Amino acid sequence: MKTIAKKSKPMTFKVFLLAAVIVVSGCATTPFHYDRAALSGAKPWTSEAFKNNLEEFQFAVVGDRTGGSNPEGIFTRAMDQLNLLQPEFVISVGDLVEGYTEDRAKAAAEWDEVDGIIKTLEMPFFYVPGNHDLGNDAMKQVWLERRGATYYHFIYRDVLFLVFNSEDPSHPPPEGMAERTATYKRLLKENPAAAQKMLEEFMANLESYKKPMLMSDQQINYFRKVLAENPKVRWTFAFFHQPDWEQKQAGEAFQAIEQMLRGRPHTVIAGHLHYYDYKKRNGTDYITMGPVGASWHMNGPGNVDHILWVTMKQGGPEIAMITLDGVWDRKGRDLKLKETYERTAETEGLYQEP
Ligand SMILES: [Fe+2]
Repeated sequence: MKTIAKKSKPMTFKVFLLAAVIVVSGCATTPFHYDRAALSGAKPWTSEAFKNNLEEFQFAVVGDRTGGSNPEGIFTRAMDQLNLLQPEFVISVGDLVEGYTEDRAKAAAEWDEVDGIIKTLEMPFFYVPGNHDLGNDAMKQVWLERRGATYYHFIYRDVLFLVFNSEDPSHPPPEGMAERTATYKRLLKENPAAAQKMLEEFMANLESYKKPMLMSDQQINYFRKVLAENPKVRWTFAFFHQPDWEQKQAGEAFQAIEQMLRGRPHTVIAGHLHYYDYKKRNGTDYITMGPVGASWHMNGPGNVDHILWVTMKQGGPEIAMITLDGVWDRKGRDLKLKETYERTAETEGLYQEP
């Protein structure tokens, strides 16, 4: 009797387990249902291969907010639009405050303002430092107090994200940078032609724009170790503020990083130039973000406020560039809001190439 009882218990458990597996797997693999009897064999759709692979995910990238930022509503609108689009997270390419101030309280107040806007996001936001964010020792101190690190990495769903600090150290800014920026912003509203002249002169003499980024050995060694420790991730994204590949000759630091990344599938994304640009370099996508509020610095189709929408698929990323004037909430186009980020060469005091 004892033997029979012992045998019947495992049988009961096995049946229960099998039923549980059927129920669970049935729920997980058949999210699509329809009334087969009502349709009687009809299928007015093309396929049942739904795009719902759990290994795929989406994130968004935003460009520079400052560096002669003008219409105040643009960055806020971008955050609102990201909440409509619902990426899993958002990552920046830096220059979120005007900075270049020695007054730490003023720097903190600038960060309070932009952090308040970023807090409206329903998903995580990853910071990447730009030259305005880390332009001097005071700015760096304020950054470290708030963020704790100027470069870092993280892994999300087996994809490696490298956040570089291309201001390690920063090139010295032009004399009176904070005052000049304030004057430029005032002129944009009061006298766009004078703002245009000012920007033209400023850009022509901005030597730091023509210099490769600087990066400490400590930082390069940090990322060398990160890459050595993560050889088999399915993709790697490298984020910089400065797109060193746009220099006449990329600097030594950037060349070293490119060498480190060679042989692994990756994508490189930066900002700083306030002008959208795409290049293929050694078979890899290199993207320079346009702005979300920052001023325009040159002529052409890259002058556009936008976000980047990245879908990480199994074989690599699909990348969509979405202009801010193409995303509206369910109520439809609101021309009052459109005025907050619709720009023209005239309103922008656009720098003209000689
Ligand atoms: Fe910048």
